[in-house]
Amino acid sequence: MSLILLKGKMGTAILRGFLSYYKQAQQICESPAPVQISHIVVTVRQPSEANRIVSVVHSIQGPTMDGPVVSVWLQDSNEQAARQSDIVILACKPTAFDSILRDNNMRSAIFEEHVSKIVVSIVGGVSIAQLKQSLYNVTDAQDAAAPSSHCTIVRVIPNIAASMRESMTIVSMAPNVTEDEAVKRISELFSQLGPVIQLPESQFNNASALASSSIAFYARIISLFASGDGSETAGEPLSPKDALRISAQAARGASSLILEGEDPQHILSQVATKGGSTQVGLRVMEDSHVPDALITAISECAEATAMLSKVEQK
Ligand SMILES: NC(=O)c1ccc[n+]([C@@H]2O[C@H](COP(=O)([O-])OP(=O)(O)OC[C@H]3O[C@@H](n4cnc5c(N)ncnc54)[C@H](OP(=O)(O)O)[C@@H]3O)[C@@H](O)[C@H]2O)c1
Repeated sequence: MSLILLKGKMGTAILRGFLSYYKQAQQICESPAPVQISHIVVTVRQPSEANRIVSVVHSIQGPTMDGPVVSVWLQDSNEQAARQSDIVILACKPTAFDSILRDNNMRSAIFEEHVSKIVVSIVGGVSIAQLKQSLYNVTDAQDAAAPSSHCTIVRVIPNIAASMRESMTIVSMAPNVTEDEAVKRISELFSQLGPVIQLPESQFNNASALASSSIAFYARIISLFASGDGSETAGEPLSPKDALRISAQAARGASSLILEGEDPQHILSQVATKGGSTQVGLRVMEDSHVPDALITAISECAEATAMLSKVEQK
């Protein structure tokens, strides 16, 4: 299988994750993944970006360059790259997808005769109906008559931890579509980057806030906790490096317990014993309305995700 990937922060994280997967599989002589990548074409807009991607590839694959073959092409080659690939991963901003997909050369590459391609969109807030309108070059997705050749659109939201193969990835396709094979294939592909969950598209904006944007919220919380350890009455403050490491590992510990099935409330009751110091911290959080603020942050983030595609297309 070969795929094309538009570079960018997420595109680069995905590339790192895939290459690390094959590197690790090779090191531990793991049996090959059910969906194997033979070739990745990354398209970039600036030649300087091409150099950056090449050094990312070298840093992971090493001098032997084992794993998928990676080619880095300029964006004029989007069409050529799509022609060579069976999976096209669209990793551009919501303002750019329309011009990329409406391009006639790109469309003819995706709709190549007798070839069934999959377009994977990781573009935030852009629905499959909108992607169809652009790809089929119509104003209403209902008008999108299937051309003689076939293409399936799958919507995917990974997160930036894909680079470490610790993504939480959401996969979805259009309602009433039964092309389970494509969803299965894409789910298997992205499971190389961490756990995958399939959800209906109607839940995508909420899931995207929780799976993808929340990484930034957790990073903020971890670093804020680490910077708040400096109370002199508590003794000698930690170095920033130690504090950040301890805070991040504690967050990982809470995550691991919850992922193993522990009820968060149970963790709370185990740590915050009556009259203990943890209770003091929890009371400050309640008194400062931190829980309300966090709930509002995630719900407003989901609403903003839904609005991403409403901004004017460039
Ligand atoms: N960042 C995240 O954590 C995250 C998580 C999940 C989903 N997403 C979604 O992923 C998408 C990309 O986000 P990002 O954070 O990676 O943004 P980004 O760093 O700005 O990446 C977008 C990339 O697309 C490139 N691009 C635009 N038009 C192109 C074209 N015609 N041909 C080739 N490349 C083109 C841009 O090139 P230039 O650099 O030259 O402009 C840029 O490198 C967004 O839709 C976002 O909603 C992001």
